[in-house]
Amino acid sequence: MSINANNATFQKLIMLPGPTNVPIEVTQAMVAPSIGHRTTDFSSIMKEMIRKGKILFECNEDVIYLSSSGTAAVEASITNILRKDDKAIVTVCGEFGGRVSEQISSVGASAIELVADYGDFPSLSDLERALEKNPDTKAVYIVTNETSSGAMCHWLKEAGDLTSKYGAFLVADAVSNWGADKMPLEDYNIDFIATGSQKSCAAPPGLAMIALSKRYKEQMFKDPQKLHFLNLPRYIKMSDKVKQTPFTPCLPVYFALNKAFDIMIEEGMENRYVRHQVCAKAFYDAFEAMGLQLFGEPKARSNTVVSIAYPEGLDDKEFRGSLSKNYGVVVAGGFGDYAGKIFRVGSLGMINEYYVLTTISSIANNLNRLGFKANTDAAINAALKNLSKL
Ligand SMILES: Cc1ncc(COP(=O)(O)O)c(C=O)c1O
Repeated sequence: MSINANNATFQKLIMLPGPTNVPIEVTQAMVAPSIGHRTTDFSSIMKEMIRKGKILFECNEDVIYLSSSGTAAVEASITNILRKDDKAIVTVCGEFGGRVSEQISSVGASAIELVADYGDFPSLSDLERALEKNPDTKAVYIVTNETSSGAMCHWLKEAGDLTSKYGAFLVADAVSNWGADKMPLEDYNIDFIATGSQKSCAAPPGLAMIALSKRYKEQMFKDPQKLHFLNLPRYIKMSDKVKQTPFTPCLPVYFALNKAFDIMIEEGMENRYVRHQVCAKAFYDAFEAMGLQLFGEPKARSNTVVSIAYPEGLDDKEFRGSLSKNYGVVVAGGFGDYAGKIFRVGSLGMINEYYVLTTISSIANNLNRLGFKANTDAAINAALKNLSKL
């Protein structure tokens, strides 16, 4: 949404863990003239997106695009391979791990949960123990960044080594950190990455993306499930044949994501990972210097979602409402039991010095406005110390 001031309209800063701020070129790409989705015009776009997807996901198989939000990709990762009585291990330390666990159960498979406190993340040794106890596990599901609390998996590469030793599939629900944290599919032995256009790609919502291994693909073809919209073999066959999708694609978001991919390739993934790490650290240090308490375990801290505990007496609605109305900065609240107790700042996509400093000074000013003392200078200096590394 926009903010009105001096009879003019300004774009608000969308500092959410997705959707994020979108570059102007990406937004403008959506207003291209419409095309037919059963034409060579669309096939050319698909071809380009498959080529770019392979570079970005560092995978050999063609990337699959679903006209849907990230949930469809996560659900497809479950419904296309898990059967009744299969065993699947899943990390659960917040809302999104809970959702994956529920979906595993809903196909009749048994979900072996690796549980950690909210704000923390299960450990690699938890996974090691679970696999030792259940060597017949079919798949391991890791929510690589638990968006609801701001805790991330810092051992994804090791999980790939371990999981492949047991012959299980490794699936990453990387909706809120693919594109921000390193996870080359082939190199890390990941079998499936599920993500969405509205997070670290800095494109609008509407497309779910799937990168998968040859092994995962072969399993789906060997033991096909009775699925309709999320029938991935159907997407693969159609793409192989004519570079089209089985169902009508959300064309404007394809145009936008195609442009967003150009921006990502030009920047380079390694540079993106560094930028996300530096900006997240700038936020963490700045909030502490401001006098706020960070939420969650330091060892599990996310590079894309920064969670902060509210000081005693500060009302969530009043804080976020005033931040949005008076400063044009939109941040997220907490989920479930943590609603009203924490707020979350999205540090992903286009995140850079401008977004970090504007958000920090707006939050500090907003706190002072609401009668809570915040040390603005110390916060800005702490952020700048990090941002000088960019
Ligand atoms: C880790 C994770 N998984 C799944 C989802 C669901 O994605 P969507 O809302 O795009 O369907 C989200 C959304 O924020 C998420 O953060």
